[in-house]
Amino acid sequence: MGPVTRSLTDSWTLGGVEVPNRVVLAPLAGIGNWFVRLQAKRYGAGLAVSEMVSSHAIHYGNERTCTELLRVHPDERATGPVSFQLFGSDPEIMRSAAARVAELGVDLIDLNMGCPVPKVCKTGAGAALLKDPDRAVAIARAAHEGSGLPVTVKLRPGLRPGDREGVDLAHRLVAEAGIAGLCIHPRHASAQHRGTPNYELARELVEELPVPVLISGGLRDRERVLDVFERTGAAAVLLARGSLGNPWLFEQVLGTREGEPTREEVLDEVDWVLERAVEHLGEGRAARYLRKFYPWYVERLGGDHALQDRLQRSTSTAEARAAFREPVLAAIA
Ligand SMILES: Cc1cc2nc3c(=O)[nH]c(=O)nc-3n(C[C@H](O)[C@H](O)[C@H](O)COP(=O)(O)O)c2cc1C
Repeated sequence: MGPVTRSLTDSWTLGGVEVPNRVVLAPLAGIGNWFVRLQAKRYGAGLAVSEMVSSHAIHYGNERTCTELLRVHPDERATGPVSFQLFGSDPEIMRSAAARVAELGVDLIDLNMGCPVPKVCKTGAGAALLKDPDRAVAIARAAHEGSGLPVTVKLRPGLRPGDREGVDLAHRLVAEAGIAGLCIHPRHASAQHRGTPNYELARELVEELPVPVLISGGLRDRERVLDVFERTGAAAVLLARGSLGNPWLFEQVLGTREGEPTREEVLDEVDWVLERAVEHLGEGRAARYLRKFYPWYVERLGGDHALQDRLQRSTSTAEARAAFREPVLAAIA
């Protein structure tokens, strides 16, 4: 038998859930809400993962968490599954939160065991679980039992360069908690998001683990994505920073688009985002929330500091829309 040729456009299954292709939106805290996931799906993402959500906040019924972060748009599921990422350090609280998330009709639960942010780690969650494997296994088991859904885990190789506790934990999570898949971001937690990911280590996990391994880290353009997909043998690729304000990356990676979007396409997409943000948060909060989104689109349009400043000071989405469409940009473009 000759080698099997894999393609990013292949469908595959993750814990029995059919995923239409191998290109996934990564979890992005403070960003990956329903409309960012829907945007990724509109451009072809086979699976979209939510921003990380606190199991504690869900369990105790925090209002903003339950109404905003747990919102799923019906169209999100029209083109493929949705996964919700949870974080936490208490198995019983995770069990309860996972049960609540299953009621939303999502397809998968992903657990965050890689976040290096001190605010998360000091509660014993995120990458802190790399040092507490018994607890990590109990949390994964509880998430599955509570939700009845397939559970995946996203983790790092270890806390510091040279550490391999994440590799050992990955094996235990499969063998003892029955996780359906693993996503490896092969940078040590202490590196946060800097430096070149260790794709060799990812390849090792792909070869050793009996479940699909997804790869995250440094996947910012088509060439890199194809190279890493090939080199690691990963089941799927997660697009993260490369996709910020750049849903066209999904199409480029899937081979349905060549080249960059036109100025008009970018402006239309900005309008779509502005409208969805208002639908999500109401006008007043949308204008503030979108301040972190604007720089991605300004950069893509070749806008200057004056435009950035204006957008950061804008108090309505109408003002932002007008600023984006000002003729000065046309001269630059
Ligand atoms: C702004 C931001 C927010 C992130 N939030 C999460 C998160 O909620 N959960 C998670 O597992 N990873 C999170 N990550 C990590 C990404 O999912 C991804 O693994 C990482 O950025 C590496 O991919 P990249 O080099 O292609 O950006 C975040 C990264 C960034 C930049």
